[in-house]
Amino acid sequence: MPKSLRFDQNSEGQCLITTSSVFLLFLNSLAATGPKRNVVPMYKAWKRSCYLGLSLCPEFVPSNMLSTTVPIAALAVSLIVLYLVAHRRLHKPKRPPYPPGPAPSLIIGNLLDTPPTEAWLAYIKWGSMYGDVIHFTILGSHIVVLNSLDDIRELFEKRSNLYSDRPHMATIDLLGWGQSTAFLSYGGPLRKHRQFAQQAIIKHSSLSGFLPIVTKKVNTLLHSLLATPDDFMRHHKTFSASVVMAIVYGYDVAGVNDHFMAVADETMDIMTQAMLPGATMMNVLPVLRFIPPWFPGAVFQRLAVSGRKMAKEMQEVPFDMVQKQTADGTAAPSLVSNFIKESKSTQDYDLLKQACASLYGAGTDTTATALTTFFHAMIANPDVQAMAQREIENVVGNGRLPNFDDRPSLPYIGALLKELLRWRPVLPLCLPHSTRQNDVYKGYYIPKGTTILANIWAIYHDPRQYKDPHNFDPSRFLDENGELKDDNSEAHAFGFGRRFCPGKHLASNSLWLSIASILATFDIQAPNNAAGVRVLPPMDYADAMIPRPLPFSCSITPRASMSKVIKELQELRK
Ligand code: HEM
Repeated sequence: MPKSLRFDQNSEGQCLITTSSVFLLFLNSLAATGPKRNVVPMYKAWKRSCYLGLSLCPEFVPSNMLSTTVPIAALAVSLIVLYLVAHRRLHKPKRPPYPPGPAPSLIIGNLLDTPPTEAWLAYIKWGSMYGDVIHFTILGSHIVVLNSLDDIRELFEKRSNLYSDRPHMATIDLLGWGQSTAFLSYGGPLRKHRQFAQQAIIKHSSLSGFLPIVTKKVNTLLHSLLATPDDFMRHHKTFSASVVMAIVYGYDVAGVNDHFMAVADETMDIMTQAMLPGATMMNVLPVLRFIPPWFPGAVFQRLAVSGRKMAKEMQEVPFDMVQKQTADGTAAPSLVSNFIKESKSTQDYDLLKQACASLYGAGTDTTATALTTFFHAMIANPDVQAMAQREIENVVGNGRLPNFDDRPSLPYIGALLKELLRWRPVLPLCLPHSTRQNDVYKGYYIPKGTTILANIWAIYHDPRQYKDPHNFDPSRFLDENGELKDDNSEAHAFGFGRRFCPGKHLASNSLWLSIASILATFDIQAPNNAAGVRVLPPMDYADAMIPRPLPFSCSITPRASMSKVIKELQELRK
């Protein structure tokens, strides 16, 4: 071989050895020093890299160079890189570890560990392995689950300035609900939404403005249950929707076939499924939202096209209707008509449309779900039902229905409502909150943008707080004198901190009066089988952020002792 060629080959050899040593050193030292930040593994990695580099390319290395130039050059460059890597590692501000949780896989994180159904139960199991604060990742997104009330209070209430954001969910944007109260980021528009909702509902609540509306709608519910008891689940939805529609828009829902109700029902169905982390890949890989609906397999995109149309209808049509009625002078009193009359400009109308539709969206499914669960709780616990009916008979008698003035005198009914919200919380994982800044909690690092799930189910089924938590037992909320304990425990069902539910008082009042009135008027029992034996049907829920009860049968019969009231109710629509 000519000399010049030999020389070139040797240069390449040196170069290659040095580069490969340095490269391998770099990889090795990165891997070795990751969590331990220790220089000893780096030194070992460097040594291994040099040997490996030499063994990979022996054909390029002339024997005389092996002993001198190459190792010196490799050593020099490697030391520089070693110094730089070590310097970076050792001087990097040390951040605490993430909270404990299941070990993530490369790139996908814990995507395959994410529980497909009843995630709140799986998180309780994880809690027994990792503690009350659990961390996992899905494709690089951080998720923290809080299983204890103390942690939830500390983060959502005491550190509410950091923990009141919502995670961005691409599915919600695609469905046209990105600007609704429940999904707005923390900031100016959210403050306006909440101001409106709170002023409107709390002002109405304190002036008892909405109580006559609730009373009227409860009477309609009783009338419907008398007429078509088998449709009880449908009646619950009509009731909850009609309360919110009447208060917000002054609109009278026209029974089970009302157009707005049908639209809202379908919209909420799609929405609640789209909210669970891991429900669709789009929430973890937002770039997928750009896949067009015609693309094979783009099921969610196709669903979203009709979802968006329905969202627009829910947001625009009832509001525009009230705007027109207000101009005509025919508008019934409502939050929207009051606002339009009082406001001097139309500047906030878009925001108001979203806030109103949010009240309707958030207030309908939640209250209806709690009512349907109440029916199952009654057929599964006839002794509780009998106890509640006795209390109503003793205090109210048989000549009239209970009213809001009776509430303080009916502690068992109050306890029953608390137990209902505890036993099967309507939002078992609350709505996801998100962090606005990096934070350190109990020595663990929680980065900005982490989704935080408050496991309401876990705190309500903690045996340290609630004895036999799976039993339905209202008496746990009564003191030794039979009075309702003032423990504020039902508040947890409505969320925490700056995002707590603005419809809490309306929901509590609607549920209280409907439960008390239904118990006064009807006996609710398990259905008979072919042999005439009562058999308790299973109570299952569709898996979603608001798990919706799946249909079941029950027997709803008017109570003979209430014949006078029942006759009046039957007259209601004649
Ligand atoms: C049984 C009935 C209800 C339950 C259990 C319930 C529960 C909840 C929960 C747990 C949250 C999330 C709070 C958080 O993120 O910390 C929430 C939010 C919300 N609720 Fe309710 N709710 C009910 C009824 C209602 C009603 C009747 C309305 C309106 C009329 C309503 C309007 C809202 C709104 C607008 C939000 C979003 C608040 C925000 O993101 O700032 N809810 N609710």
